[in-house]
Amino acid sequence: MKIAVIGLGYVGFPLTQLAAKSGFEVIGYDNNPDVIRSLDNSEINLKLTDDESFLIDCQIYVIAVPTPLDSQIKPDLTYVIKASEVISKYAVSGSLVINESTSYPGTLRDVIMPIIDPSGVKVLFAAAPERIDPLNKEWNLSNTTRVIGGVTKEAGDKAMDFYSSFCKNVISVSTPEVAESAKLLENTFRLVNIAFINQFTQIMDKLSIPVYEVIEAANTKPFGFMKFSPGLGVGGHCIPIDPIYLADKAESSGAPASFIRSADQINNEMPKFVMDKAIRLLGSDLSGKKVCIIGLSYKSDIADLRSSPALKLWDLLEATKVQVSYHDLFHPTFRGMKSVELTSSQFDLAIIATRHSDLNTTHLLSSTKLVLDCTGTVAGAHRL
Ligand SMILES: NC(=O)c1ccc[n+]([C@@H]2O[C@H](COP(=O)([O-])OP(=O)(O)OC[C@H]3O[C@@H](n4cnc5c(N)ncnc54)[C@H](O)[C@@H]3O)[C@@H](O)[C@H]2O)c1
Repeated sequence: MKIAVIGLGYVGFPLTQLAAKSGFEVIGYDNNPDVIRSLDNSEINLKLTDDESFLIDCQIYVIAVPTPLDSQIKPDLTYVIKASEVISKYAVSGSLVINESTSYPGTLRDVIMPIIDPSGVKVLFAAAPERIDPLNKEWNLSNTTRVIGGVTKEAGDKAMDFYSSFCKNVISVSTPEVAESAKLLENTFRLVNIAFINQFTQIMDKLSIPVYEVIEAANTKPFGFMKFSPGLGVGGHCIPIDPIYLADKAESSGAPASFIRSADQINNEMPKFVMDKAIRLLGSDLSGKKVCIIGLSYKSDIADLRSSPALKLWDLLEATKVQVSYHDLFHPTFRGMKSVELTSSQFDLAIIATRHSDLNTTHLLSSTKLVLDCTGTVAGAHRL
């Protein structure tokens, strides 16, 4: 069976590898030639290309393109629409189109289907939102349960067969909207819990109560509590974005979304809280001070800068006339600057936004007067 994956980023590329290893003939299509050049094309059964004519005669088309927010902070389905337009040229009666991109409920039925099959030629459609957590050593594409909702039973069954050939657990839900909503529930759950612990941290800070000790104490309860840790905010292509898809869909349908909006706002304001905390720790305002941001990526050990709160902190510091520098080995240069070494005493303050595993905390602590650690993992540093 020949399958095509449209979009070869964090989601699409690993899928091409796994599907090819499972014996499918795989076409990985990305409309950005730089992406094709950057990827390893050595897998047998796999053709990576920016030439859409290879999409002919595939039995399954999987959409794995970005679903960002636009400049009005609203869902931007441009990439999904473009990908659907390309598929519409090649899908025929009996082809199966699967959407893995995260979006609001109704995207498959109301946006993708009318583009690909406007006259009801009987293309089959299913939603199977991807749940990958890049770099997670325990949970990956094959052992994370896949949730599938077909528009028809035939579509759902075919999608189940496809994913069952490389996923250990595959479950079927009654509609694509259930699958699409489940993905948004998962990521909104994380957003609001992170926001809650971030606001709780601000309360504890005001009351001069050590928040980490409180969290560990609460975490001794063996039921009804799940531990979340404070931080500089949320980043990446999922947690800050997906809940806004849900909120926008809710509001445009006349349902409330204030809880999600509030959580989003609390997380977005964390860099300001961190900066204020730094000012209190330093005992003076930051103007003219040398501040180094440690870790620009939104999470440990990856280079991904999308929506990284470290960059919001950078902008805030710069607006306060701070001399900002940074240290991040995933980004040797950034914004016209070079990642600084941590070996000599050069800063008034270092703020650990993200801790990559190569961070030499001994050098950092010995070379810097004051270290504020937003990750809560560096012994000897100040914590939130
Ligand atoms: N990154 C994650 O951890 C993650 C996890 C689960 C779900 N998702 C969801 O999966 C989707 C893809 O995310 P990602 O992180 O892989 O994005 P990405 O930006 O890493 O990759 C998307 C790729 O799609 C390509 N592309 C865009 N439009 C195209 C088109 N019309 N035709 C062909 N290629 C096109 C881009 O060039 C890019 O290489 C999003 O909806 C995201 O929310 C992401």
